[in-house]
Amino acid sequence: MKQEKFKFSSRLVKCYFDADFSYLEKLVERTKVIIITDENLAHHYANKFMDYKTIVVKAGEEYKQQATVDHVINELIKRNADRESILIGVGGGVITDITGYAASVYMRGIKFAFVPTSILAMVDACIGGKSGVDVGLYKNLVGVINHPEFLLYEYSFLKTLPQEEWINGFAEIIKHACIKDKQMFSFLEKETLERFQNYPKVIAKLIKQNVEIKYSIVSKDENETGDRKLLNFGHTIGHAVENIYKLSHGNAVSIGMAAACKISGDIKSFSSKEKERVLTLLKKYHLPVDLNFDKEKVWKVLLMDKKKSGDKMNFILLNKIGDAFVKPIPLAHLKNLFNQVLL
Ligand SMILES: NC(=O)c1ccc[n+]([C@@H]2O[C@H](COP(=O)([O-])OP(=O)(O)OC[C@H]3O[C@@H](n4cnc5c(N)ncnc54)[C@H](O)[C@@H]3O)[C@@H](O)[C@H]2O)c1
Ligand SMILES: [Zn+2]
Repeated sequence: MKQEKFKFSSRLVKCYFDADFSYLEKLVERTKVIIITDENLAHHYANKFMDYKTIVVKAGEEYKQQATVDHVINELIKRNADRESILIGVGGGVITDITGYAASVYMRGIKFAFVPTSILAMVDACIGGKSGVDVGLYKNLVGVINHPEFLLYEYSFLKTLPQEEWINGFAEIIKHACIKDKQMFSFLEKETLERFQNYPKVIAKLIKQNVEIKYSIVSKDENETGDRKLLNFGHTIGHAVENIYKLSHGNAVSIGMAAACKISGDIKSFSSKEKERVLTLLKKYHLPVDLNFDKEKVWKVLLMDKKKSGDKMNFILLNKIGDAFVKPIPLAHLKNLFNQVLL
């Protein structure tokens, strides 16, 4: 097991890589733990959770809503959770978001930690302290910023991760490569999803590398005034199409990244060769690069995006692979690009 410490202004988050779930009992008192997980994980890992109080919620993004948080809170009351309790979110990004948010508001805030079980949660959702829920079509509209006590990575959870969820997780890995790491981009070009699935040591190394990329971006800009915005690459259009078309997060972000590359080419001298490299890499990892979406509908949702400020939208574009920048685009111009570039 490798232990690292991630320093944020409000908390030092301990991170246990290559750990075993059973290590939990060394970190926290069993009687104080309440596990929050979803039906799929409860089904696969009943024996791991057996000795703990557990709250199981329905699986899927459509349950990342306030009603599920209310349900969790009622279950916490039934289990006599108090300020000494610690919630452990064991699952994908939906579970880590629900756990972080519920723990942060229950009794004005109790301790929580994460055991991420999907690639997406491992490389992205569990790092950075953001957690929240969707409100209708609006993604992550309500939530908090608060860091977990610790992160525990047991890679063997990935053995039961469905193929489509592997693919989703790779959208965020490709995003990290596009915005910050051209070497990792080239490495991904040479590798295949199948190799990562079959070689635990190779995926373990890639996951750790991605956690470090996300940590290094977030820790330098906790308030999202600078570089942290780059993590939204592909997410502006991505979030809008995600909920309208009930796409998975990774698929939606992939479509968003492809669109952002097309817009990058129109605004900046981002070469069409580089654009093709990004599109080819996304396709190599079985991700979609286009969607014939209803532009008016997507535009309406886009206007509610948290990245909008006044009459501009802070859009993330690429200078080149491994180098992204924030471009405030006037809404009128963006609307034109929307109609002309994204045909
Ligand atoms: N808070 C953040 O900073 C942040 C960052 C990125 C994404 N997110 C959020 O994360 C969510 C997406 O995360 P996700 O893709 O992990 O979604 P998810 O939690 O819905 O998991 C995807 C599916 O995989 C299943 N699953 C997860 N791990 C499994 C395993 N080991 N074995 C079998 N099945 C398993 C889940 O039950 C679910 O059906 C979105 O809601 C997104 O907004 C949050
Ligand atoms: Zn994302």
